Amino acid sequence: MSKTAILEIDGKKYEFPVIVGTENEVAIDIEKLRGATGAITLDPGYKNSGSCKSEITFLDGEEGILRYRGYSIEDLADKADFLEVAYLLIFGELPNTAQLEKFENDIRKHTLVNEEMKSILEGFPKTAHPMGVLSSLTSALTAFNPKSVNVENEKEMYDAICKTMGKFLVIATWTYRRRMGFPLNYYDNTKGYVENFMRLMFEIPTEPYKMDKRIVDALDKLFILHADHEQNCSTSTVRIVGSSHAGLFASISAGVSALWGPLHGGANQAVLEMLEEINNNGGDVAKYVLKAKDKDDPFRLMGFGHRVYKNFDPRATIIKKAADDVLDALGVDDPLLDIAKQLEKVALEDEYFKSRNLYPNVDFYSGIIYRAMGIPVEMFTVLFAIGRLPGWIAQWKEMRLNKEPIGRPRQVYTGSPSRAFKEINQR
Ligand code: CMC
Repeated sequence: MSKTAILEIDGKKYEFPVIVGTENEVAIDIEKLRGATGAITLDPGYKNSGSCKSEITFLDGEEGILRYRGYSIEDLADKADFLEVAYLLIFGELPNTAQLEKFENDIRKHTLVNEEMKSILEGFPKTAHPMGVLSSLTSALTAFNPKSVNVENEKEMYDAICKTMGKFLVIATWTYRRRMGFPLNYYDNTKGYVENFMRLMFEIPTEPYKMDKRIVDALDKLFILHADHEQNCSTSTVRIVGSSHAGLFASISAGVSALWGPLHGGANQAVLEMLEEINNNGGDVAKYVLKAKDKDDPFRLMGFGHRVYKNFDPRATIIKKAADDVLDALGVDDPLLDIAKQLEKVALEDEYFKSRNLYPNVDFYSGIIYRAMGIPVEMFTVLFAIGRLPGWIAQWKEMRLNKEPIGRPRQVYTGSPSRAFKEINQR
């Protein structure tokens, strides 16, 4: 039996359909609300609003559940590799061996970036933040690929996906090479995707590069944990930009900008900077917890809290363990890890954090692992973007194939009522 919701305005009743998702999530379908009642809903930050139906990722913030296409994040992080997960997110099913090989080979066909992109990169000052450069370079790719993709043509869509996966990884690492003054590196098509990330970043022409498999494996896992997270800020950005039928590169470039903010992906850099500051100031964790609780102080404990997770972030649980393993394996003894552990303990026992359900999120521990791997702090959010890329692509594709209308929210106007224009000499 289908359910309905009744809304009463000024004594008049209106009925709206209720939609139930696969996991019994309930939504009131208000598509016809304004037409029927003249009213709109107001929901700043979209805390209660669903923007779409999606088959990609399921997240239960109360229970700490995260699944891609039905598979638990724990299983995927443990048993799959990043390109398998990318394929799953984008195409809906786990690939068999032949499909995975083909996907990897087809990505390889697109790993050469137009040499003219180098002059665009050189136009940036070396001090530019890699996320700003990455967003601009992704956008610049539209100039080299001006034809918009016909999403209904499977081959065109598939080629665009492989092209985006191939070129984005290369330009992401170029942002670092430019900053360091290193010669730009090329993808090596005989090696894997994540191995290539390490090479592209760190291999220099003067000596052979020795890859540490433990680092590659841990990075692969980190990319999987970041690969999708349903309608978060950057993904919603990608969907809404794409809803105007802007191309894939343009939409993803906007997603990179959204991810950069410290309340979203930029938090991983902010966490490490916060831990460094605490350490440099004598390691007084309690002082920073007090600061975070003080409403007159804008300081927040970075890496704590989440819009959706109100119990624990399952990604943080996996990362915490991975951080311990990686630091152990590499023999790294990082004082910042001790500060992080103390901070976690103090905050988790504090009434302020308990009553607001503020728990460590994915960004709390990722920075510690990145640091142990030798990744510079300004590149942390770029790594998040590389991991999130398949999610952005999958969501963009789904939005276009579902023929979703252009995203265009309404507002409640609270400005001045109509008034007569005043000539400049009368103001
Ligand atoms: N430190 C101190 N207080 C906090 C924090 C924090 N990190 N996060 C939330 N609060 C307080 C906030 O002040 C508010 O208190 P009150 O009810 O007294 O006004 C209450 O908790 C609810 O917070 P909110 O800002 O209304 O919650 P939100 O859902 O709008 O924001 C958030 C979620 C992630 C932006 C926020 O928790 C935050 O700023 N965290 C720090 C930044 C961070 O780690 N971001 C990464 C998120 S996970 C990676 C990703 O998916 O991007």
